Amino acid sequence: MPPELYPPGAAVMAPIAGHTDIPFRRMIRRFGCRHAFTEMIDAGSLVFQGQKTLRLAQRGSDAGFLGIQLVGSDLPTLKRAAEIINDMDFDVLDFNLGCPAPKVARKCEGIRFALEDPDGAIRAFETLVSASRLPVTAKTRIQDESDPAPTVAFCRRLRDAGAKSITIHGRLMRNFYSGPVFYEIISAVRESLDIPVVANGGAMDGASFRTLLKKTGCSAGMVARGALGNPWIFREIADSSAPPPDVAEFTETIRAYMDDMLDCYGPEFAYVVARKSLLEFLRGRGYPGTLRASVSYLDSGDALKKLLDAVAEGPTERYLENLALHPESVERKLVRSHS
Ligand SMILES: Cc1cc2nc3c(=O)[nH]c(=O)nc-3n(C[C@H](O)[C@H](O)[C@H](O)COP(=O)(O)O)c2cc1C
Repeated sequence: MPPELYPPGAAVMAPIAGHTDIPFRRMIRRFGCRHAFTEMIDAGSLVFQGQKTLRLAQRGSDAGFLGIQLVGSDLPTLKRAAEIINDMDFDVLDFNLGCPAPKVARKCEGIRFALEDPDGAIRAFETLVSASRLPVTAKTRIQDESDPAPTVAFCRRLRDAGAKSITIHGRLMRNFYSGPVFYEIISAVRESLDIPVVANGGAMDGASFRTLLKKTGCSAGMVARGALGNPWIFREIADSSAPPPDVAEFTETIRAYMDDMLDCYGPEFAYVVARKSLLEFLRGRGYPGTLRASVSYLDSGDALKKLLDAVAEGPTERYLENLALHPESVERKLVRSHS
């Protein structure tokens, strides 16, 4: 087995389009995330130097292990994109062979590339391996829920093409991000390969992350939606007895995140770009619907101050009572105070 990219027990932050930017990564690093990814970068946009793409492809002040993920299918474009990345400061280059989003699937990229043109997908992967100075990895999905053979066969080909590790999301293309995760298929791939397999799917808190590793036998797992609005998941993974945030820590984390958003995007864009992340913070933590609705209009420092003041007042009494009496019924935990 070649040296592991990720140490045993590693919780790798997934690439998430529209989320895993510099401010998000700064935040999760504070809570112990050691391995992270940029969001997926379109190879063609990188080659043609789109300003937005170049910004997505920046490391920023992020000092930890950071991978970059490419999506694409045209071989010369992928080769050129890998060469551009050779001059950047990343630790790993990942190839997206798992995305089911229509704008990717339409071009027969992501998981459709793997399913409908596996020979082309493997050639694309080989192109990246020969052009890149970095370890090249792949992120894909299971291809069948009951029969491991097609997923195993495809992953073996990726391994033969030079993959240093493969992340497998245990859901079919048609199920996008919902429904059960088929641990047995991930486990079968792990058993049949001599490179590390990273398990992905359904790690929404510390306990479900541990279940993912246990049921797949993988030594590393990838966290995706469980970290949105919830950087504390990394603290909970490292220490199952770590407390959930209290209202003061919760408010300060959002404040620091917004400071970084303003630094990164400037006041003209930061509030708009931050809206979806702010909704993730407030989701499932007992804040009134009216407060969540106000996030959709956030557009200024004054509006942010009002929002943070309301957040600092804490969740509704009903939520706090539920948390005390039926903690399992609460989607995400937020306590009144640690002391
Ligand atoms: C909004 C959104 C954007 C995503 N963007 C990417 C992406 O850019 N690259 C990628 O490989 N996967 C992407 N994914 C998939 C996740 O990385 C992950 O595989 C999936 O959410 C399953 O993990 P989970 O059940 O822990 O969320 C995205 C998922 C969501 C919900």
